[in-house]
Amino acid sequence: MKSSEPIRRAYLDALGITLWEPRAKQSIASDTTLALEASTVSADTKRLGTPAPNSGAAVAAMGWESLQEAVATCKRCVLHSTRTQTVFGVGNRRAQWLFVGEAPGADEDRQGEPFVGRAGQLLNAMLEALGLKREEVYIANVLKCRPPGNRDPQPNEVECCEPFLMRQIELIAPRLIVALGRHAAHSLLKTEAPLSRLRGQRLSYRGTPLIVTFHPAYLLRNPADKRRAWDDLCLARNVVESSPS
Ligand code: URA
Repeated sequence: MKSSEPIRRAYLDALGITLWEPRAKQSIASDTTLALEASTVSADTKRLGTPAPNSGAAVAAMGWESLQEAVATCKRCVLHSTRTQTVFGVGNRRAQWLFVGEAPGADEDRQGEPFVGRAGQLLNAMLEALGLKREEVYIANVLKCRPPGNRDPQPNEVECCEPFLMRQIELIAPRLIVALGRHAAHSLLKTEAPLSRLRGQRLSYRGTPLIVTFHPAYLLRNPADKRRAWDDLCLARNVVESSPS
């Protein structure tokens, strides 16, 4: 769904897109000119036949409420000791689009919602440029807790958190996953290939189409790559529009 022109304009401004006509003559730009130029099965399960509470197998059978509770009370890794709160994910639980980031930052840790800081504002702008509202997509992270000082997620932290994201993906059953940045791409695709090799093509996470693009925080530091990010998002939209409903 397209938003109204003033709102769209505000988001384009946030993307750093410069339009040269006088404001009164500006028309709604085409999509091209909108370019962002600018298993864990636990030992307990095997031994006892019944999944231990919060084991990978137990998580894999959870509905939304128990999953949310399991995340909120999780102490699987060291990150529980430094978090303010967990950051579960937000949006439409029946979304066609699922965006997966890396981990909560300071703002997200404080507010309990993913992508609410500066990177989140850019993500919102990217969604608007696609004609999507934040409420109609789902946004989650690989890690549900903030790594102190925003350091990179550690492999054991990713492993501990993986069943939660896996279950979110199963429950949402999106038409498309957009992996935002290297950590999301590597964790979902089980690869260490550079982003440059992963972008620009339709990949797959357990049968669900997956597109890799830059992390919004990277784009804030490297605005020249917004144009490439827009190309990724256009590819993503083609995948959603061509996938069976
Ligand atoms: N960066 C992320 O990867 N996720 C957030 O929620 C915020 C910033």
